[in-house]
Amino acid sequence: MSRAAVQRALLHPLAKPLVFVVWLLPFAWLAWAAVADRLGANPAEALIRSLGDWSLRALVLVLLVTPLRVTLGLPALARFRRMLGLFVFFYASMHWLAYVWFDMGFDWTEVLADIPKRPFILVGTAAWLLLLALAATSFNRAIRLLGAARWQTLHRAVYVIAGLALLHFFWMRAGKNDFNEVAVYAAILGALMAWRLWRRRRAQPSRVSSRI
Ligand code: HEM
Repeated sequence: MSRAAVQRALLHPLAKPLVFVVWLLPFAWLAWAAVADRLGANPAEALIRSLGDWSLRALVLVLLVTPLRVTLGLPALARFRRMLGLFVFFYASMHWLAYVWFDMGFDWTEVLADIPKRPFILVGTAAWLLLLALAATSFNRAIRLLGAARWQTLHRAVYVIAGLALLHFFWMRAGKNDFNEVAVYAAILGALMAWRLWRRRRAQPSRVSSRI
């Protein structure tokens, strides 16, 4: 398939609804599996963890948009970024809701007490609050109100969220001494950050040429 054909497909009016439905499928499956009692011996834990996994996968996908857009020469990919960003917020919020519901039984005193008690909950909460700020400012009206420069600065918080989410996952797994998956996500997120730094350095005029 040629690049032009991919670009046309990405601009097709059905492309966004299709991506929306596909990205909703993991949640739909988990909701069905919870109702149909298909989540194993500890469904609450399985649900919280799976939603956590999908939050992190959604975060990786949204951070992949710019490298793919630039390296594959597909500007149309940019039109999916807001929706993919809101899906990170959606999955992280469903993850949090499952924790508050099935782990904490909506006992808000317990929820608040758990934040300082478990460091991985503290950094998870910090990541979610930042996601909330990005979700709340992802609409055109917010961009106009903030101005493009301040909006862009605020939305660089996605890198802080990636770091916090990884730390959350690492600390959560530290208790089980099981770091394989954490290492995979760390490598992927590290590569995506390294690509951005490389691209930024390449865009900066070199000291030699700036002196000439
Ligand atoms: C309000 C904030 C959050 C709370 C209270 C929270 C809570 C939790 C809890 C209770 C677990 C499972 C612990 C266990 O089973 O031992 C967990 C795991 C996890 N969370 Fe969060 N989380 C939050 C935010 C996030 C965010 C923002 C992300 C990612 C963007 C995330 C990603 C994950 C991942 C990847 C796991 C591990 C799942 C696995 O074991 O496969 N969490 N979180």
